[in-house]
Amino acid sequence: MFSFFKKKEKISASTVAVTNYESIKVDMHSHVLPGIDDGAPTPADSIVLIKKMMELGITKIIATPHIMADYYKNNAETINGALAVLKEALANENISVEVAAAAEHYFDETFEDLVNNGQLMTMGQKYVLFELPFIGLPPNLLPLIKRMRDLGYKPILAHPERYTYLKLDDFKNIKNYGCKLQVNTISLTGYYGKNVKKTAEELAENGLVDFISSDMHHLRHADALEKALLFPSVQQLLESKLLQNNILL
Ligand SMILES: [Fe+2]
Repeated sequence: MFSFFKKKEKISASTVAVTNYESIKVDMHSHVLPGIDDGAPTPADSIVLIKKMMELGITKIIATPHIMADYYKNNAETINGALAVLKEALANENISVEVAAAAEHYFDETFEDLVNNGQLMTMGQKYVLFELPFIGLPPNLLPLIKRMRDLGYKPILAHPERYTYLKLDDFKNIKNYGCKLQVNTISLTGYYGKNVKKTAEELAENGLVDFISSDMHHLRHADALEKALLFPSVQQLLESKLLQNNILL
């Protein structure tokens, strides 16, 4: 029984079919822009994280700094400014990788105004990454998803597996309203605990995962992203045809 558990948990290097993230190419959730949120503090820190992603087969990085009214008052100006600083630092080091920026919008009292005023930071064809409070479900989640869709935005909920108040039926309902789901790859390793891991696995088993990404803030996340490649659940997702990261190329 013990050996079965071990086998299910982690597979040995000799049986690994996928050794990197080349099949998805795009990481679309990270905090690698320098100095504007709780991610990389300096361009040098950004470069360490970006090099790690490149080593793991990522060819395009879409940085998504927090936009939170109470903590990180970012906007297009601060985000594009930090992107320019990062691009200059990458050029100075002769590092060739595609880097773009959008945001991870927090569903707070200012988010609805940003939606209605067309001030969301988007990636690809009007995709919008947003996160929910961890303490409880905002009552206007579904109406605001519908509003985003009506305005031509394509919402993506960041790390649905991390909101303990959301269950399988909620995920299905959110998707039925036209919102895609982005699971943090490292959730599948147990990085955020066993309950989050279990929910991420449930999302994967039910074919509800549209994107996986690193949500990288620091080197511990980078190390976990590398280790994630040894997990069958991650391997299976990478081998499935369900992931849509490529549409953001
Ligand atoms: Fe994030």
